[in-house]
Amino acid sequence: MKRTITLLLCAVLSTVVGYAQNFVIPVETDSKGYYIVIEEDGRAWHGYFGDKINNYDQFADVFLATHPKVNELKTPLYPTFGGGYIGEPALKLTHADGNMTTRLVYDSHKSETLEGGNLIQTDVILRDEYYPLTVTLRYKAYQNEDIFAISTTIYNGEKKSIRIDGAMSNYLSIKAEEYWLSRYYGAWSGEMQMVESPIADGITTIDNKRGVRTTQDGSPTFILSLNQPASETVGEVIIGSLAWSGNYKMNLEVNYQNKLHISAGINDYLSAYTLDKGESFETPEFVLAHSSNGVGNASRNLHRWVRNYNIQDGDKVRPIVLNSWEGAYFDFDENVIKKMIADAASMGIEMFVLDDGWFGVKYPRDNAKAGLGDWEINYKKLPNGLKGLIECAEEHNVDFGLWVEPEMVNPKSKLAEQHPEWIVTSANRSHILERDQLLLDLSNPKVKEFVYNVVASYLREYPEIKYIKWDANRHVEDFGSTYLAKDKQSHFWINYIKNLYKVYDSLSKEFPDVIFQACSSGAGRIDYGSLKYHHEVWGSDNTDAKQRVFINWGINQFLPAQAVASHVSQSPNHQTDQVTPIKFRFDVAMAQRLGVELQPTKLTPEELEWTKEGIAVYKEKIRPIVQLGDQYRLISPYEGNGFSSTMYVNDDKSKSIVFVYSIDFHFRDVYPTIKLQGLDPNKNYRVEELMPAIGSNGKARSCYRSNGEVLSGDMLMKFGMTLTLQQQSASGVFMLSEVK
Ligand code: DGJ
Repeated sequence: MKRTITLLLCAVLSTVVGYAQNFVIPVETDSKGYYIVIEEDGRAWHGYFGDKINNYDQFADVFLATHPKVNELKTPLYPTFGGGYIGEPALKLTHADGNMTTRLVYDSHKSETLEGGNLIQTDVILRDEYYPLTVTLRYKAYQNEDIFAISTTIYNGEKKSIRIDGAMSNYLSIKAEEYWLSRYYGAWSGEMQMVESPIADGITTIDNKRGVRTTQDGSPTFILSLNQPASETVGEVIIGSLAWSGNYKMNLEVNYQNKLHISAGINDYLSAYTLDKGESFETPEFVLAHSSNGVGNASRNLHRWVRNYNIQDGDKVRPIVLNSWEGAYFDFDENVIKKMIADAASMGIEMFVLDDGWFGVKYPRDNAKAGLGDWEINYKKLPNGLKGLIECAEEHNVDFGLWVEPEMVNPKSKLAEQHPEWIVTSANRSHILERDQLLLDLSNPKVKEFVYNVVASYLREYPEIKYIKWDANRHVEDFGSTYLAKDKQSHFWINYIKNLYKVYDSLSKEFPDVIFQACSSGAGRIDYGSLKYHHEVWGSDNTDAKQRVFINWGINQFLPAQAVASHVSQSPNHQTDQVTPIKFRFDVAMAQRLGVELQPTKLTPEELEWTKEGIAVYKEKIRPIVQLGDQYRLISPYEGNGFSSTMYVNDDKSKSIVFVYSIDFHFRDVYPTIKLQGLDPNKNYRVEELMPAIGSNGKARSCYRSNGEVLSGDMLMKFGMTLTLQQQSASGVFMLSEVK
């Protein structure tokens, strides 16, 4: 009987399908368009993504005429297994009755205008022809920034649970002659390295299975260049990025018609998700930028979108930080830290951050082997506790920040003794340790509460703490949750990250004045999902300036300088043992969010003097332009000519900062010529080299022969500037100021 009613109901539902005519659902920004075609029989197709079509009225008919009724010539808007599509589907699902096929048809759509008119949000609702299951595709179109953020929600209206075997955030179809893909690879101390190659036929997969720290050896961000390798200024380019800090998967599939299908979403790896009756499952957003004139334009749009919508306090500049890690590691006491604070203040630093090692009583955190999880102040090291340090910081007019790693635990800790059931572990197996630590099971609401309280309790007790560096130093190598039911163990990965976001979100709301940094053994959590709740990321534990030119270049493809903490550290560098002049170290770090990470007492008098001046110049002249302006990348370090250059321009194009680095030795008279970008050709600019290198005669010597002159924006962009940089680690920083 029940079955008959369901069948009748579904028959009624499916008869609704059938529209008078084909039509287009336009999702548009100021200059880009994403067009969805609905055919009169209710099927929804991916139409076109790229430059806006000024009059899309005829698009549906033209699209359908050139794509006759052969399924394979059109790409379903959201392909499902069983929906007549033979490529990699966006949705794999098992219905309550065990049927593994899904067939979606158009149900309805609606658009809303939000964010003062800048965001147009369009929901396209598809439903299964037979089962009471809906799939809502949400397209957020950010008008000024030309950015799309797309997510999908699956609603189970069936009588019983269904199982999602894989649900992508979005499915995109592109047609070009050739496809070039830039993607990221790396490791601890060498994150965000870029590599570009043509995409071969078949499926290219960008994925990660590390669970909670997924951007050290890869990234859910890619750059796709159509018909030619990517260039900063030329060619059609798409940047795609999944806003998710857990396992991700992006399939780029070139089919026999040479069409490229891109699906991006949570990795289906061991992640079957049971959706009970009446429940919804929401995917993370897939963020898309399109450019018809190179990567630079798409990056700048993403940077603006990040500053406006996907970072905390994107309209504010960041303080200059001294982080204690490389200057003290675990080896400190109250006097050492107080002295660092005093030295930081004398250098002009605005924020002192106490890194790892300040906690643990029964098991003091004197190295990475013990104490993690026991968030009690170690009064042996710090007899006056955090209070003593905060007072010292206040006396010196420096803000105070604190390192935490609340998702993790050392087996040698009170927490591990008291709550072994909170630790991620697989039954009947020994633990696999990484950095002597284990992961707490954040899929468990009690752990979620604990993690929240670790941070919240300190911020409540010490409202003077103005910065939290949130670290996470291991990934998942096996898993098991004592909280999740036996048949829901595979929910672990997704629930972990969703709960992590809830913690981040509540903290940022309860403590809106605190700056949060996302760190994870360096760049383990550089993604738009986590960034939304933070102010910045830690780009790498590798603080070597030359290495950082490459790492920052990679990160800046999708993150603005404001979000990228880059610190000046000791020479020889602790990771690479390279000796690098203080000027070069500063010139690299100043192109991002400048910080310092060293023991000030170890600086030579010359280095100390340079540090003070560098900080003052950064504050006064560089910071607002670098952190709030537009970035133009002029010479890639990957070009292999031994130079690299980046510049920033403020909104009204009256000021610019230009950075140039020599990252290799060059033969005689081999100099870089940089053609500036983004200036106003009709404006004149005074070119001033900031803090030029000191020559052998002890005097400052500019690397630009026309330093100090007033030059036209037009000439600077067309003829450029030739700089006498030759030695390895030589560099120049220029300020351009409009002269009226
Ligand atoms: C890894 C981070 O990336 C470092 O900056 C530092 O905070 C250490 N952890 C501390 O254990």
